[in-house]
Amino acid sequence: MSGRPSASRRSILRGAALTPVAGLGLAACGPDGGGASAPATPAAPVDLGAESEIPRGGAKLYADHHVVVSRDAHGALKAFSTICTHAGCAINRLRDTTLICPCHGSEFDAATGSVVQSPATQPLAELPVRAKGGRIIAGPGA
Ligand code: FES
Repeated sequence: MSGRPSASRRSILRGAALTPVAGLGLAACGPDGGGASAPATPAAPVDLGAESEIPRGGAKLYADHHVVVSRDAHGALKAFSTICTHAGCAINRLRDTTLICPCHGSEFDAATGSVVQSPATQPLAELPVRAKGGRIIAGPGA
């Protein structure tokens, strides 16, 4: 009998100790990059992955970094922020080379950053991008 309250308390403490870890995991996977802060594009160059993942005429969305990278028919790369210019939502969907905002349905061309469908009226912000050693590096200073 006397052991039960102690065991029960240990369980509670163990559960409390795990809670912050679970919370971090959820924040990292959240649509806005975590917590109360607004989503943001990289503030420094980031390695997005293998250059070979983006075919000529195609695009790839790096939702975790809020960046889309496209490649034109000649092989040149372009990168844009995927923070919607309408009200700041993080765009989480790419259909071929069209980005679709989940909040109010704005659409953008991943090859040019231009608006394809309102309500957004301003193009996506372009980011520096380059290929280095077979990797895609994007963000300020890339
Ligand atoms: Fe993207 Fe409104 S925030 S359409």
